Amino acid sequence: MFAPLTEVRHLKSCIGQEVALRGWVRNARTSKTRFIELRDGSGFVQCVVGASEADAESYETAGKLTQESAISLTGIVQSHPKTGEPEILVKSLKLIAPSVDFPITPKDHGIEFLMDHRTLWLRSKRQWAIIRVRHTIVKAIRDFFDTDGFTLLDAPILTPSSCEGTSSLFETDYFHEGMAFLSQSGQLYQEPGVPAFGKVYCFGPTFRAEKSKTRRHLTEFWMVEPEMAFAGLEDVMQLGERMTKFILQRVLEGRQEELKILERDTAPLEIALKESFGRMSYTDSVAKLKELGSDINWGEDFGNDDETMLMNSMDRPLWVHRFPKSFKAFYMAFDPQSPELALGADLLAPEGYGEVIGGGERSSDIDYLLTQIEHHGLNLADYEWYLDVRRFGGVQHAGFGMGLERAVAWICRLPHVRETIPYPRMMGTLRP
Ligand code: 4AD
Ligand code: MG
Repeated sequence: MFAPLTEVRHLKSCIGQEVALRGWVRNARTSKTRFIELRDGSGFVQCVVGASEADAESYETAGKLTQESAISLTGIVQSHPKTGEPEILVKSLKLIAPSVDFPITPKDHGIEFLMDHRTLWLRSKRQWAIIRVRHTIVKAIRDFFDTDGFTLLDAPILTPSSCEGTSSLFETDYFHEGMAFLSQSGQLYQEPGVPAFGKVYCFGPTFRAEKSKTRRHLTEFWMVEPEMAFAGLEDVMQLGERMTKFILQRVLEGRQEELKILERDTAPLEIALKESFGRMSYTDSVAKLKELGSDINWGEDFGNDDETMLMNSMDRPLWVHRFPKSFKAFYMAFDPQSPELALGADLLAPEGYGEVIGGGERSSDIDYLLTQIEHHGLNLADYEWYLDVRRFGGVQHAGFGMGLERAVAWICRLPHVRETIPYPRMMGTLRP
């Protein structure tokens, strides 16, 4: 009888059966018995080709296999005597397509080389694991908001106005209207959705012409941005915490194999899942940073190093709230108790990772916004539609943005965001 085609991920439930597999050779070792590590995109499995079990032609083909050749095979699934993992005792094997001199070998390659070969690098075990964790995080985010009463309100990518300051805008000609900008954030388009739908979110690519090369900055990154009616700073912190825990739960439940490949110690993630996140005002954070040796002064924004320093001493995520409004975006509501402070909060991840979420309460005061627009040097005509949210039944509302790649980097504990997205875009690199 012809063996049914099976995906590697299902092999655990096929012990003792004959199966057919298709995939690519990750690694082939040839001695008297041939050992092939096969990957089919759904997982990895060792295949053993012995002279007495396989037919002569298959045995010979197996002896000549090179890395990334595509093959099909049939064999019996057995569990490895030591690890208990499924492995295949091969009966027959065919070459589907050869692969000659695959550039990425098991030896160490420099990062520039790997980035130049990103399309091929995606086949490596580590990249496979990261992208699958990313997928699970994306799905968790969508499920979280979809089941929490939020309506998806996609934000445009070409926009006439800036959200997060004018220094990091990508511009492009837009017919006779002049310049369009690639969106830095969907927030300004979520706010008008609040009176229409109550609770909305968008989740898409955003762009910043960041002129700094750091391990946290991409020029193109994905952001999820919820926005809620009748909500303030406290609601933002609660929602962000619930969402983060939902994501952690999904990853810890469903991506054990990938976390193992990445050698991710999951204990810190378990703590973040179980414990309440920390909270500290900006003012207290500055005092703490000074204690830790930073030369930051009150009124200055945190640098990457400050965030890392603050978080190295924390075992769980931390909300830093109520920043000086001087360095925050024009739309932020101010704290009526201390008008120099903005009602904003950032979630900083532990283990030295910095800001993963930024958000807060939006100003509902049209006169205040008018002065802010002027103060920030923005063109009022570009924001009239934004002010309409306040003109017609304007209510307290709040929201946040979480950078997907920052979350992936933390959850996988990666040293740099460039591996968290299939095709990273950073200053100085537009490849492939
Ligand atoms: O703090 P940011 O700039 O906030 C906003 O854009 C708000 N309008 C969001 C909102 O309230 N709806 O960015 C939000 C998050 C950051 O916390 C960070 O995780 C991520 O976006 N982020 C970046 N990620 C990668 N590369 C960059 N250059 C990023 N800039 C921001
Ligand atoms: Mg921010």
